[in-house]
Amino acid sequence: MTENQYQNDYQAWLRDPEAYWLNAARNIPWFTPPSLAHDSHDDQRAVWFPDGKTNACYAALDIHVDNGAGNQTALIYESPVSGASDIYTYQRLLDKTAHLAGGLKELGVKAGDRVVIYMPMIPQAIIAMLACARIGAIHSVVFGGFAARELAARIDHAKPKVIISASCGIEPTRLIPYKPLLDEALAIASHQPQHCVIYQREQMSATLIADRDIPFEILANAPPAPCEAMDAASPLYILYTSGTTGAPKGVVRDTGGYIVALKWSMENVYDSKPGDVFWAASDIGWVVGHSYIVYGPLINGCATVLYEGKPNCTPDAGAYWRLIQKHKVSTLFTAPTAIRAIRRDDPDGSYIGESDISSLKHLFLAGERADPDTVKWASGKLGIPVIDHWWQTELGWPAIAACAGLGETDTRTGSAGRAVSGYKFEVKSEDGKTVPPLTEGALVIKLPLPPGCLSTLWEAEEQYQDAYLTEHEGYYLTGDAGYVDDEGFIFVMGRTDDVINVAGHRLSTGAMEEVLSQHPDVVECAVIGIDDKMKGQCPIGLIVLKNGAQERQNEIYEELISDMRTTIGPVASFKRIKSVPGLPKTRSGKILRATLRKMANGEDVTPPATIENPDILSQLSSILIDQ
Ligand code: COA
Ligand code: AMP
Repeated sequence: MTENQYQNDYQAWLRDPEAYWLNAARNIPWFTPPSLAHDSHDDQRAVWFPDGKTNACYAALDIHVDNGAGNQTALIYESPVSGASDIYTYQRLLDKTAHLAGGLKELGVKAGDRVVIYMPMIPQAIIAMLACARIGAIHSVVFGGFAARELAARIDHAKPKVIISASCGIEPTRLIPYKPLLDEALAIASHQPQHCVIYQREQMSATLIADRDIPFEILANAPPAPCEAMDAASPLYILYTSGTTGAPKGVVRDTGGYIVALKWSMENVYDSKPGDVFWAASDIGWVVGHSYIVYGPLINGCATVLYEGKPNCTPDAGAYWRLIQKHKVSTLFTAPTAIRAIRRDDPDGSYIGESDISSLKHLFLAGERADPDTVKWASGKLGIPVIDHWWQTELGWPAIAACAGLGETDTRTGSAGRAVSGYKFEVKSEDGKTVPPLTEGALVIKLPLPPGCLSTLWEAEEQYQDAYLTEHEGYYLTGDAGYVDDEGFIFVMGRTDDVINVAGHRLSTGAMEEVLSQHPDVVECAVIGIDDKMKGQCPIGLIVLKNGAQERQNEIYEELISDMRTTIGPVASFKRIKSVPGLPKTRSGKILRATLRKMANGEDVTPPATIENPDILSQLSSILIDQ
């Protein structure tokens, strides 16, 4: 394909978006094929393929077995932290999934019921997700690095009939007691599931509570269940993500539009073919895991890699390259932080030279800004295109990329690429006007969003409208700032809200502030993200202590760090606190977080006109500068 293929494709979409997506929809299996692209009563809120019926598990597994690919590899499980390694063919993965789906049905789980999945990176987690999809239950996977309170908040919001979990997760230096964490979460939560299904790992055995807890194995031996024909618009999953406030937002993903978008992206963005080995080195608790460990590669007939380990220390920074050689991986997708971790431990890339990675065609990076230095290092050492691309939990699949499958190789340093077909970006000024090229502003996407993007927030339609649709009428607000150059390359500059990205994990500083402000000695606080060489950003807490509490300052710091671990979770990487005499505020009392962020990162700061207490800035600069 020529490079123009991308331009032609994008123009074809612009000319007739509905015909374009109806055409793409022909590439996925349907029980009832759609006759309509979207419900055009409302141009802003497209319901994609409203009269189509399909099933995400069918599209991921059954169709390949029906087409004679049952013996092909579907799932490669590699777990350096436990020493386990396993391969599932499509037939084996289908059998396991169908039995578990039957077991869930026997527990009374029906289409539309919610099932929370709180599991480490083990095949049973993927089987659980697909089993839910098979019977039309809506899964909600919660990342294992969150603490019990965060899990409880999600349980209370999603109100699952059943929770599926495991006895433990395994981090390089310790076991994570998932089942006790789940019990703790259920002791906090108001909502109680009817049952918890527990997978016992050999590293730790969990105590089961009579009548409520059921061994995973019992469900896994139930009679198999068939796939339910689901309306394309029916929710496949809820995935909670961080927003501006402490309460997480439950992104709702539909079924039909998502399958179509993932199939399209596997071919056109990732240049991936059935039979290829696709490795998204992320976690099933994040959107990258949902779309490109589980559904995308399987829908495309690829073998997907499930990796339970770290990039640099299980056992060393050569782990990725050895696995690429072992399984002939053709696409690797990870967060820049993982590459930075590898580079820190192996700056010369000597491990790369020790493995045959000739199968690898592309390295895709997303989840946070890919700094040009890391991109340059990786492309130099690997000798393949390194493609930064941008998307969000809300969108579900890439919106800005170099579409490798459409022959696009053109990139610009610092840019995540050009708009992917389906997405029309504009940049807005504060007064709502579209700004000319090269001018920074709020990145927005013209509505309607393409198939696969969020349809609403779970039981929070008003919040959905307020957070994404109200600020610029007719556009979706991404929450990122950026600019577009004359050739359409989009440069993402960072969030405009209180979301930070720590090692590719999206976290809310608002939620962290809630934890700090609950401490009896803290009068006021702000949490900001500061630049971090390895993790991209790390949080730092600025606290104003009660009079007299200064003597206990170090003790208070330790208490706050521990509170953060037990409330938000270790994933917050909250390790730095500074006691400050006050915080800069506007006259209406709003803390000037953007000003603090700039100061902490050593940028020049012009005090905003609205500042009430400009004197505090000079006091803070000496405290923050030594970060
Ligand atoms: N369950 C329980 N705890 C977890 C966890 C999980 N699934 N994942 C992480 N944690 C814990 C870690 O053990 C660590 O705890 P510690 O403070 O006691 O050491 C803490 O959460 C922070 O973890 P992490 O952010 O992973 O930092 P790290 O220093 O352990 O590793 C990297 C750094 C760069 C190697 C790691 O973050 C990484 O591999 N990142 C890839 C990013 C990624 O997959 N992003 C997803 C979007 S693409
Ligand atoms: P998440 O929903 O966890 O995928 O996080 C989405 C956010 O991560 C985006 O809104 C961006 O702020 C950031 N992000 C993701 N990918 C990139 C990228 N390639 N470049 C810059 N920021 C990114």
